[in-house]
Amino acid sequence: MARATSQFVCQQCGAAAPKWAGRCESCGAWNTLVEETVEARPKALGGTFGGKGKGRALPFVGLRGERAPAPRLGVGIAEFDRVLGGGLVAGSAILVGGDPGIGKSTLLLQAAARVAASGHDAIYISGEEAIDQIRLRAERLGIAQAPVRLAVATQVGDIAASLTDGTSPEFVVIDSIQTLFVETLESAPGTVAQVRASAHELIRLAKRQGFALVLIGHVTKEGLIAGPRVLEHMVDTVLYFEGERTHRFRILRAVKNRFGPADEIGVFAMGDEGLAEVPNPSALFLAERGPDAQPGASVFAGIEGTRPVLVEIQSLIAPAQPGTPRRAVVGWDSGRLAMVLAVLEARAGISFANQDVYLNVAGGLRVSEPAADLAAAAALVSSLAGTAVPADTVVFGEIGLSGEIRPVAHTEVRLKEAAKLGFKRALAPAPHRAGAQPARIPGIIVRELRHVTELAALFAAKTLPRAVAAKDASHA
Ligand code: TYD
Ligand code: MG
Repeated sequence: MARATSQFVCQQCGAAAPKWAGRCESCGAWNTLVEETVEARPKALGGTFGGKGKGRALPFVGLRGERAPAPRLGVGIAEFDRVLGGGLVAGSAILVGGDPGIGKSTLLLQAAARVAASGHDAIYISGEEAIDQIRLRAERLGIAQAPVRLAVATQVGDIAASLTDGTSPEFVVIDSIQTLFVETLESAPGTVAQVRASAHELIRLAKRQGFALVLIGHVTKEGLIAGPRVLEHMVDTVLYFEGERTHRFRILRAVKNRFGPADEIGVFAMGDEGLAEVPNPSALFLAERGPDAQPGASVFAGIEGTRPVLVEIQSLIAPAQPGTPRRAVVGWDSGRLAMVLAVLEARAGISFANQDVYLNVAGGLRVSEPAADLAAAAALVSSLAGTAVPADTVVFGEIGLSGEIRPVAHTEVRLKEAAKLGFKRALAPAPHRAGAQPARIPGIIVRELRHVTELAALFAAKTLPRAVAAKDASHA
C-alpha cells in the first residue's frame, strides 16, 4: 500500500535525513532541516546490474568529430556578454545569484529590454514584484518602450503553459526561483524541494524549446531561504552578482560556465539610470585615489578572468588595546592576511604584534588571487613604516611560507595594463629560472624581488618595529 512518507531536507545543502535533527549531518548547519513530503516514486526501473534491463545500448563515438558551435544570442551589454563567454547560448540555463537588493532584477530587466529591442522575443516573469512596480522601474531606466513580454506568476504550470503556447521565446528571465512552486508538491515556495522541482521543470523546457533561461536566486548569508547553491549543478552557468551595497560598483562573476571561461567578471556601476557598463574597471577602481601617495596603500596589478584589473589595497595599522589585536579584512581572505602577517614576522622580522590590522580592497572588489600577497604585504609594511609606496608603482607576486616571492602567471598582461594607465614602476617576482629574460614592457621599470626581506628593505627598514625573539619569550 502506498504510504505518504516525509523526509527532512537541509535548506542549506539539500541533504536529506529520515529524522529531524538540530544540526545537518552533511554540512553542519544548525536549524536548517525542514520536513518535506516525498513524492511517490515511479516503480524502480526494470533490472539491476546484469538483469534483463530495458535500456538500449548506447552508440559510443570517438573524441574527434564534427561539432556545431553553440548558437549564441548577444545580450548587447558587452560586460554581460563577456561573462557569458560571448552571449546567451540557446537552450542553456543560467543562474544569477546575489544578495537581495544588489541589483539582479535591474540587470536582468535591462538585459531583457536589450534583447527585445534588437528584435528577439524576450520574456520577463516576476514572482516578486507587481506589474506596476516593474513598469515604474522600466520607466526610470528608460527602457519602457522595449517590446519585452512581461508577466507576474509563481505557478510553474502556468509559466510552462505560457512558454509553449506556440510562440518561440529566445530569452526568458524568472525573477526569482524562490517564489515559484510546482502544484504537485506540498512544500512551501522557497524550500529546497520546490526550488529544485521548479528549476528542473523550467530547465527541461528551455532545452526542449531552445530558449536561454535565466533563473534569479537570492543568497542569504544565513541560508534561511533555500540557497541557490542546490541549483548550481543543474544549470550550465552560474553567475554571482556581488558588491557592497554602499558602493556603486557591482561585479558579475562567472563561477561556473559550461560555455565559456569561469572566473570572468563584468563590472557595472549602479546609478540613477540603472546599471551602467564599466569597460575599463582599472581606471574606475583607481579614480578615487588622491594625487599623492599615502602610507598604507598599494596598487595591485591583478587578473580577473582573462582581463587585467588594477585595484588599490589599503591597510591601516593602529596600536591595539591590551589583549588580542584585531585583524579585519574587506575584499580579501582573512586566512591569507594571517599568513602574510606571519611570514613578515617570521621571515623578515617585522612585528605586527600589539597592532590592530585593517585591510581593505578599494571599490568593493573581492580579490582571490594569490598574486595579491605582495601588494597586501607592501600596503601593510608601508603603513607600519609610515612610508608611502610611490604613486606610480604597481605591485604583484605570491608569497611563500619561507618568505620567498614566487612568480605568478600573466606578468606581461599585468605590466601592460599598468603602463596603459600611466604607471612607471612595478614591484614583481623574479622569474623562475636564473638567467631568464625579465618581462620588458616599454615605460615600466620592473624591480624584481625574491624575498620579503627585500620588500622590507625598501621601506626604511630601520624604522620598523622588530620582532625580537628574546622579548617575545619574556612575554610568554
Ligand atoms: P534590485 O534590482 O531590485 O535588486 P535585487 O533584484 O537584487 O534584489 O535593485 C535594488 C536596488 O537598486 C535598490 O536599492 C535601488 C537600486 N537602484 C538604483 O540605484 N538605481 C536604479 O536605477 C534602480 C532601478 C535601482
Ligand atoms: Mg529583485
